[in-house]
Amino acid sequence: MKNRDIPAVVEIEKLSFKYPKPEAVFREDEHKYLVAKDNDKVVGYIGIEKILDEEHIINMAVDPGYRGQGIGNRLMQHVLNDEDVFFLEVRVSNETAKKVYERYGFKVIDTRKGYYADGEDAYVMRRIPGE
Ligand SMILES: CC(C)(COP(=O)(O)OP(=O)(O)OC[C@H]1O[C@@H](n2cnc3c(N)ncnc32)[C@H](O)[C@@H]1OP(=O)(O)O)[C@@H](O)C(=O)NCCC(=O)NCCS
Repeated sequence: MKNRDIPAVVEIEKLSFKYPKPEAVFREDEHKYLVAKDNDKVVGYIGIEKILDEEHIINMAVDPGYRGQGIGNRLMQHVLNDEDVFFLEVRVSNETAKKVYERYGFKVIDTRKGYYADGEDAYVMRRIPGE
């Protein structure tokens, strides 16, 4: 993600999440994001952060008009590797995202009660290489 991509990313974030992250967060974390583009248009993004020796997927979203075309799958394929352990949190109600993550070998290992601001629980999912 480049600086000029951020306004489009923030728009997709707003369309995708109940509590969208503000633009300032994306500006601070610019280096952590990868964007998917259709020609010059930003159509999706994924955030990833290495904390000690663990990779954390911060979030992922695809422009609603571009969903179901394999962009989410391609974003995942770009950030995963077969050396590191990956973690993420996902709303328990988010079946679509859970399915995408399971497809890439993530398994639910824990539930965080009331993790989100509206009180919904999160599943903690982990991917261990070769498992
Ligand atoms: C989750 C998300 C990023 C997936 O992106 P996408 O580009 O639509 O995903 P893909 O087209 O690559 O499809 C991925 C899988 O999800 C399935 N899928 C896509 N849309 C779906 C839907 N509306 N309902 C059920 N399954 C769906 C596809 O069949 C595909 O499965 P397959 O690979 O086994 O065929 C997208 O739905 C999104 O932005 N959601 C809102 C934000 C969000 O919830 N982010 C994740 C939480 S951090």
